[in-house]
Amino acid sequence: LFRFPLVTVRGTPLMCHIADNFEKIWAFNPHPSDLLIATYPKAGTTWTQEIVDLLLHNGDSEACKRAPTPVRSPFLEIFSPKPIPSGLDLLEKMDPPRMIKTHLPFHLVPLGFWENKCKTIYVARNAKDNMVSYFHFDRMNQTQPEPGPWECYVNKFMQGELGWGSWYDHVKGYWVEKEERNILYLFYEEMKENPRREVERIMRYLDLSLSDDVISRIVELTSFKSMKENPMSNYSCVPAPVFDHTISPFMRKGEVGDWRNYFSPEQSKMFDEDYKEKMKDVDIPFRDSI
Ligand code: A3P
Repeated sequence: LFRFPLVTVRGTPLMCHIADNFEKIWAFNPHPSDLLIATYPKAGTTWTQEIVDLLLHNGDSEACKRAPTPVRSPFLEIFSPKPIPSGLDLLEKMDPPRMIKTHLPFHLVPLGFWENKCKTIYVARNAKDNMVSYFHFDRMNQTQPEPGPWECYVNKFMQGELGWGSWYDHVKGYWVEKEERNILYLFYEEMKENPRREVERIMRYLDLSLSDDVISRIVELTSFKSMKENPMSNYSCVPAPVFDHTISPFMRKGEVGDWRNYFSPEQSKMFDEDYKEKMKDVDIPFRDSI
């Protein structure tokens, strides 16, 4: 197995197996009923997918299990070696409405999603926690580029030299389009602060109306603890050598503010100064503690 090197596509570094297939991804034409879940990696993708899946199945986890895909939803841009079907192969075999996940930055999302007015949920997580989570993911996911030592990783993150590119451009790209494209823009920290409120927010966006009991069940089933134990969501379906859960489990900590265990005071100061500069043109209400 090898760690895919990065290749830049229209200004964004992507894993080479994604870059090589980019024209196929770009040509993908979704159905208007399809739902897109977009995130920078490690911002809470799986959590949001789990919530959406349960909302669409009235809180019935057994019904979710009977869904026809091996992982929760096809990853628009994942290409697997044959005979394992790729995300695009899976999508073609499924009937809409489909829940499609992507880490592509806004400018690389196939235009069909906007032309067909597909509902889109974006989840953003504060930069420092997002980076810590990505660092551990790059250690355990043997197909991602080596993370290298933490000190270097901080610089790579700040320069946008990780797979899927710059966190700053990613969160801004969807933020500035959110009104025009009717994107539901969520924050990981708000989901942690009040999961029920955010589950209800997603439910309304999806034009669903579920009973209080069902909502309570969904909140319970999508707690960090439940999801860590659930083989449908803890990615134990992707074992070594691809995901080495002994290096770092996919469901790692699920906390806000873990960055304090990693950034030295100097690193934090340097990061904050650079952050202010990079984010000065937008006012996205990020929080790094709750
Ligand atoms: P940590 O590495 O900080 O623990 P993604 O699904 O986008 O890859 O994001 C993974 C991150 O979301 C991991 O963060 C994971 O633990 C966290 N996560 C997953 N499910 C969660 C839940 N139900 N509650 C809180 N955090 C969750």
